[in-house]
Order: sequence, then C-alpha cells, then structure tokens
Amino acid sequence: MEYMFASPDCNAVEGLVIGINGTFPGPTIRAKAGDRVVVTVINKLHTEGVVIHWHGIQMRGTPWADGTASISQCAINPGETFVYNFTVDRPGTYFYHGHYGMQRSAGLYGSLIVDVKDGEKEPFNYEQDFNFLLSDWWHRSVHEQAVLLSGKPFHWIGEPQTLLINGTGQYDCTWKTELTDNTSLNHCETSKDGERFCKPLILHVKPNKVYRLRIASTTALASLNLAIEGHKMEVVEADGSYVEPFTVDNLDIHSGESYSVLLRTMGLPSNDYWISIGVIGRDPSNTFLGQAILTYFRPTHKPVQIPTTKPPQTPDWKDHNRSLEFAKKIVAKKNYNSPKPPKISDRRIILLNTQNYIDGFTKWAINNISLTLPPTPYLGAIKYGLNDAFDSKNKPPENYDPNYNISNPPLTDATFGNAVYDFEFNTTIDVILQNANVLNKINTSEIHPWHLHGHDFWVLGYGEGKFRDEDEENFNLENPPLKNTVVLFPNGWTALRFVADNPGVWAFHCHIEPHLHLGMGVIFAEGVDRIDENEIPKEALACGLTATLNLQTAARL
Ligand code: C2O
Ligand code: CU
Repeated sequence: MEYMFASPDCNAVEGLVIGINGTFPGPTIRAKAGDRVVVTVINKLHTEGVVIHWHGIQMRGTPWADGTASISQCAINPGETFVYNFTVDRPGTYFYHGHYGMQRSAGLYGSLIVDVKDGEKEPFNYEQDFNFLLSDWWHRSVHEQAVLLSGKPFHWIGEPQTLLINGTGQYDCTWKTELTDNTSLNHCETSKDGERFCKPLILHVKPNKVYRLRIASTTALASLNLAIEGHKMEVVEADGSYVEPFTVDNLDIHSGESYSVLLRTMGLPSNDYWISIGVIGRDPSNTFLGQAILTYFRPTHKPVQIPTTKPPQTPDWKDHNRSLEFAKKIVAKKNYNSPKPPKISDRRIILLNTQNYIDGFTKWAINNISLTLPPTPYLGAIKYGLNDAFDSKNKPPENYDPNYNISNPPLTDATFGNAVYDFEFNTTIDVILQNANVLNKINTSEIHPWHLHGHDFWVLGYGEGKFRDEDEENFNLENPPLKNTVVLFPNGWTALRFVADNPGVWAFHCHIEPHLHLGMGVIFAEGVDRIDENEIPKEALACGLTATLNLQTAARL
C-alpha cells in the first residue's frame, strides 16, 4: 500500500490515490470457493495506519482477519506488515477496501472474485465474465474531506466530480473517437496541441453468446444505476447469493452491493453500444457520469468507434419508488437450497437513523448515539474483559422514543458512544432500520445502504413511514434474499434477520464513507468467548489496552 500520484478521471491536476503494488485500483484477487487466501499487507503510507476489509467474506473462524480498525484489529503502522489469512467459503462477486478513517475514499480498493469449486457448476452458463468495480472520485484529497466533515461549522464535501469504472473516468478529456483493438494507449493522453483524450473501457463480445457482468460498487457516496444501450440484463447473483433470475433494462447498485447479470449478445450487431452509469438517490449535481463501450467482434477488423448514439439515459435520481420496485424483485433462487430464515426471531432491535448536532458539530446517530471508535480493538477488549477499553457498562438502546417524529428535523442533540450490542450465541436477531428527516431541511430524508460484517442477512421487507408491530405480518419469510448490504430508502424502514452464529465482533454501518466517518454505525458481538486466543495473531492486538497483553505473555516466558 502506497500513496501515488494519479488522475483516474484525466483531470489535468493529479491527485493522490492509495495504490497496491503500484496499481490503482488494487489487483483483482481471484480464488475458488474453499480456498485459503493469504495476503501480506506492507504499509508504505509513511504516516498513517492501514487495514483491509474483505467485503462480503464472512471470516468464519478468523474474525481477526475482518480488517476493521478498532474492531477486529489494530491499524497496521507505517513500515509494518500484517498477514490476512482466511477462507473464502462461498462463490460470488466481492471486493476489498480500506476500513480505517476514510481510506476507501482515497482509492484503497480492488475486486475479489470467488469461483465455484472445481467440478461444481453455477446455475447458469456463460462464455466469459467481465468485472466492473464502480467507484466515485473527488479532486479534493481524502484528508481535506475528513477535515471539512469534522469541522464546526460542518462543511459538506459535495457530490463526487466523477464516477469511475475499474478506476477510470472522464472529467477533463474527450473520448478518443477511433480506437484500434490493440492500442494500449494509457487511459489519458495529451495530444501535441494540448488536447486531452481518454479511452473508455471496452468490452469485446461475440454475437449470440451469453456474458456475465460482475458489478460491484465501492462508491464513497453515490448510489448508481447501470444501463446498456440496446441490451437487457438478467440479474442472477446479488451479494454472493444466487437470486431468482429477472430481466431489467437497467440495474440499481448501492455502495457495498454486488450483482452478476447475464448479457445476451445479438445475432447481427450493427454497432458499438454505450454502457452508462448514472447517479440515483441523490441529486448528482455536476458529477461526470460513467461510460464504457460494448463492442462486437466483426469479420472486418474495423477499429472500435465511439458510438454516435447518445449513451442510454439512466432513470431519474428522485424516483425512489422505481428503486424500491427494483429492490423488491430480488428474491432467493427457487429450488436451489437457498437457506430460509428461522420463522421467528429471538430479539428485535430498531435503529433510528438521524442526523444530529453534538456541541455544534454535525453527526449521524443511531438511536441518538453517534459511534466513536475506541483505540483498543473490540475483539481484544471483549475477549480479555478490558472493561475500560470502551463503554462496557451501558447497553446501547434497542429502540427509539415512540413519540419521535420522523418527518421533522430532530429537536435534540445526540451523544457520542461506543457500547456494543451483544448477542447470545446462535440466536436469531431482527434489525429494523428506520429512516427519518435530516437536520435543517424539511421534507428531506437521505438514502443509506447498510452493510453487515461477518454475516449475510435475509431482507424481510421494506415499508414507508414508521415501522409498526403489525408490519411484521407482511415479512417475506418464503423467499427473502440473502444479502450483506441493503438500502434504507428515504422516509422508510427496512427489516432484516440473521442468526448470530459467527463468533467475533462485527460492524454494522452505513456504507457511505462520510456517513460512517460521522458516526453512522453500531457494533455487534457474539460468541467472543469461543474464539481461541492462541489463534489471534499477536500483531492484531498490539495497540491500546491490549498492547500490554503481549508484554505480559512475553514477561511470563
Ligand atoms: Cu465494505 Cu464495513 O465495509
Ligand atoms: Cu448513510
């Protein structure tokens, strides 16, 4: 891991990105289900710590490899090395990213693809797969962004300048109009007379075939929609689980989600086609949207042309109902031993999402508490009963004030906190995410994609307004999809269920990087007593109050 100069969107001024082995985005890791993945991270960032989270991998048996600073491990210091060693148990489309401060926004991410075991088959066939790792990009450095957000008064970082596909986008450049198949020109080029050109990503396909597009979003902020000119897509996988296939003209994808779609190519292609990526859920303002080109191999070796057509228009960003309809189409695949949720839950937690002031600072809070991560990783603090490492005396609230009006800005300040929801091992937990109005603006509620570490959950339902007990009657217990990230729509609620059967300490948070930075998350723990302390790498806990544990063992030897 190393900072390097780059201009992912061909902006004339280069910025800093965090590269891995000299590349941005980081290299794609490809494994087979059941493989042991060993990644050695060497921190060459000079002045800041780093960790890598393996988004969507459950880390069963290796909770210390989850890569969350202050939760599963200590940040890896500059010059230090840490080895992640974990099993990828389920095939699917995943990714990895930084999980310390706002390093994901600094470009610390890459794809992680898990293929089925040898001899096993996917429930669909395809010729070849393509990988789309989507992200968004700001020209301001991530350090400036963090300072803006943390200030008093609060300064919003604004919408991203550019959307990126596999780390490339178009900001200050025009597409090169003719691209030969074998030009290996860099993404950005400046001609002799100073004109800036850039090359879009090109997918080469053959007629009458089926291709799998693996699409994952690691955006810091934007919710996206992807459309392919003249082609439909069949959605077959979501967050590493197979779904009942359905066909769409365009696909919604929120930060933290991943999908596979099948793309059927035509028999007689006449053209090259645009692939468009647009913003939904928030006003994109001046964001430069993403584009790629789908091109058919033709008998004549004509160079690829930039299509003369207009890229397909992605849907209106304000149309939350359309997005909700899309989300509801995602259900577990029929007749495929998709695991079903337990019929009843043992505990229900309702989490109210609000934007609040705390001493004049603007924060996000859950049941009025804004998360501040402690210096000692929870995994060690709980394992060794270090009660002073975090607020271990209090239990975070299971619900919010029933009189709270979700249609108005909050009337009171929130508080900071870092207490833990602890679950009895193997119990079934329901979480209801409840949205509300933001600060200062009436009739405004934001979209939040929530991501759970260490588990998949079943998405039992979505609703408008306040969740009521009766809403439970409409939960989908028949074929709810398994996901690790789910959207909380403006002014609504989302219900999910999971079984607390994975010993460890797990973050559950909004996947919007600035929101998490401003406290929008909670901490879950279960079965920590079942973790064998000898298996936890010493370096994982060599900080905070757990630092002395190592010294004590050393002294005893
Ligand atoms: Cu992809 Cu806790 O995040
Ligand atoms: Cu959020």
